[in-house]
Amino acid sequence: MPESKLSIVTVVGSLNIDYLSSVTHLPAPGDTVAASQLRILFGGKGANQAIAAARQGAKVRFIGSVGDDDTGRSYLDYMTKQKIETDNILQRKNITTGSAMIAVDQKGENMIVVAAGANAEISPDDIRQAADQISTADILVLQFEIPLASVTTAIKIANKTKIPVVLNPSPIHDEFPWGELIINYLVVNAGEAEVILGMPITSITDRSQVQSLLAKLKIKNLIVTRGSKSTLTFTEQTVIETPTLSVSPVDTVGAGDAFCGTFAARLAENPGTLLSDLVMAANCAGALTTLSHGAQDPIPDRETTDATLQDFQAL
Ligand code: RIB
Repeated sequence: MPESKLSIVTVVGSLNIDYLSSVTHLPAPGDTVAASQLRILFGGKGANQAIAAARQGAKVRFIGSVGDDDTGRSYLDYMTKQKIETDNILQRKNITTGSAMIAVDQKGENMIVVAAGANAEISPDDIRQAADQISTADILVLQFEIPLASVTTAIKIANKTKIPVVLNPSPIHDEFPWGELIINYLVVNAGEAEVILGMPITSITDRSQVQSLLAKLKIKNLIVTRGSKSTLTFTEQTVIETPTLSVSPVDTVGAGDAFCGTFAARLAENPGTLLSDLVMAANCAGALTTLSHGAQDPIPDRETTDATLQDFQAL
């Protein structure tokens, strides 16, 4: 019997060290608030999404950059232990690994300040050097925590070689050349959707208006996650509303990343899967990620996601 081929997800993105403080309430400008606890954890949107995809069973390659120091090296070791290919994670001299200062309040809401560090050093040339890692993948996944020129270079390689692109444009960047590149799946929250499309997206938003904007922007499918509300997916033909689990979140950091990585892994594994099923599984992984602290530790594996999905669908 021929050996079954593992689906390959290539992630081009960021790796951060997260300094996560637990606070009773988030500070207002000028405030100082006391934290009850500080956790120092591996994070970064790119790495979080890569880990989510790997836990769903995909073979994951990562293109990114860390500092050439003990922190960078321990992040590489950790990624290897998470079964992620690290050959294309560059170690940069004289710069620290990216970091994120995060405060999470008692309702699980957060504020994040990111210092890009080595993430800012991944260049379009580095991406071109690793072009085969993109052109031989099943799916390319990207976010906006590395230079925009590197993001667009990676997307151009994927577009040229017809590799589907999952883009999570977070944190939002107003200089992205919307409409010049094909984005197969754009995964955004409601705020990001409004900035990109210039209109609020709700369940009563006029579908044809959204679809004609998406056509202009060359976005094939728009997926709008809305926290505890249903996720809205606009395709070229229709709009799908997918429910999510009702949970009491402890920490929402990384929930969107768990969504993206899970979505990408399952799409890579079976491109024929119904979009509503992909989104349902991704919603489950996202919700489960909010149940304990940190971006990566709570990201569920395949078995846990499937068991939760089954219970949810049986309701
Ligand atoms: O999406 C969550 C991530 O955003 C955190 O892990 C942090 O590193 C920031 O990049």
